[in-house]
Amino acid sequence: MAMQERVYLTPTPVRIWHWLNALGFVTLIASGVQIRFPDYINIFGTYRAAVSLHHTAGIVVAVSFLLWLFYYAVIAKMLIKLYVPTAEDLKQGAVKQALYYFFYFFTGTRENPHHESPTNKFNPMQKGAYVVIMMVLVPLVIITGLILLNMQPLHNLLVAVGGVRVVAGVHFLLACALTAFIPTHFYLATLGHTPFAHFKPMWTGWEEHEDH
Ligand code: HEM
Repeated sequence: MAMQERVYLTPTPVRIWHWLNALGFVTLIASGVQIRFPDYINIFGTYRAAVSLHHTAGIVVAVSFLLWLFYYAVIAKMLIKLYVPTAEDLKQGAVKQALYYFFYFFTGTRENPHHESPTNKFNPMQKGAYVVIMMVLVPLVIITGLILLNMQPLHNLLVAVGGVRVVAGVHFLLACALTAFIPTHFYLATLGHTPFAHFKPMWTGWEEHEDH
């Protein structure tokens, strides 16, 4: 018989970071497409409005990223343990998890090989994706964005790395990768034992586990 067990999976600072970050990213993408393609896309009325909204949302994402980093690295001291895949995760875990997502989930013949707990929250595929997103792509998009603000102390850096065109090009490519991540992330998050099982802990902190 199936029994419900409740696990406190997502502490408050992580939830605050995640939803500020998600709102920030959606705003950045909407304002970013207008800034990149001003002749074709006008969502916020004027170009200047899109630029100032983009700046504000960028600051929100940067500050909330620091909250995420401070919480996991300094307070919980769980950053490496939760986010960095082990050699075993890369050799076997990721393949097992991919087989589940692409095949067994649809046939219903096998259970999800990963069981979340507060000290092992992510399956090997999540770890692989999240470590690249949170430790490579998000920091780089924030850094290139700050450089593009062209504030005085960063002006020399902008010139040193090749000028506005190079930095804007890298910033745009990073933004494309992060934009592609969101629908994949959303879809995979619906593959819990119910479609909203993984959304609930991102809102309340608690996940209901089905124990058989
Ligand atoms: C825009 C809409 C978004 C939705 C609806 C959404 C939804 C979710 C859900 C349901 C989870 C919990 C399930 C899981 O761990 O996979 C989650 C976790 C996570 N999401 Fe998102 N997300 C969004 C945007 C983003 C963005 C833009 C990023 C990063 C750039 C992001 C990064 C993460 C990370 C790193 C976790 C794990 C958090 C932790 O517990 O440490 N999400 N998201």
